[in-house]
Amino acid sequence: MKVGRVLVTEEQIATRLAEMGQSITEDYEGKDLLLVAVLKGAFMVMADLVRHIRLPIDIDFMAVSSYGEATHTSGVVRILKDLDREIAGRHVLIVEDIIDSGLTLEYLRRNLEVREPASLEIATLLLKSGLQRVPIAVKYIGFEIPPDFVIGYGLDLVGKMRNLPYVAVMEE
Ligand code: IMP
Ligand code: MG
Repeated sequence: MKVGRVLVTEEQIATRLAEMGQSITEDYEGKDLLLVAVLKGAFMVMADLVRHIRLPIDIDFMAVSSYGEATHTSGVVRILKDLDREIAGRHVLIVEDIIDSGLTLEYLRRNLEVREPASLEIATLLLKSGLQRVPIAVKYIGFEIPPDFVIGYGLDLVGKMRNLPYVAVMEE
């Protein structure tokens, strides 16, 4: 497999994240907002998105594993790193790189819901159209993309390619 066509450019990502940050700023004005990024993939979205949020936010990270080393969803989600603190009564926004089957996020949402946050919403840079196996309410979506396997901007192929500044499709 090799890196194929660029699907979302560096510039498009920057522009969209600025817009999303602006929306988040307006929506959470006066609220205690905690952004939770899902490692490792969402580390880059998180870093760039928070720079456009003009609020005194807090950040935390969770690490989950759903793919193992393959390019298909197993449906099995394991928490490798949990949040550092309690989230009861706080407004929580999960930051994701990509939603594919939605199984990872569905698991995460349920897991966080029982901790009784004041609200729990999702922001994702990428959403693969029509692949969700469970209905998921996503408040902020960067781009809807075709169901191809993509890499770059945090997204990996067996651990590599995360450092590419754009999102590209993988080709045979
Ligand atoms: P889901 O559970 O199928 O929604 O998959 C979610 C996770 O799988 C994401 O957070 C990514 O880490 C990974 N993933 C899904 N699609 C892709 C892709 O096209 N490229 C790289 N990683 C992906
Ligand atoms: Mg991954």
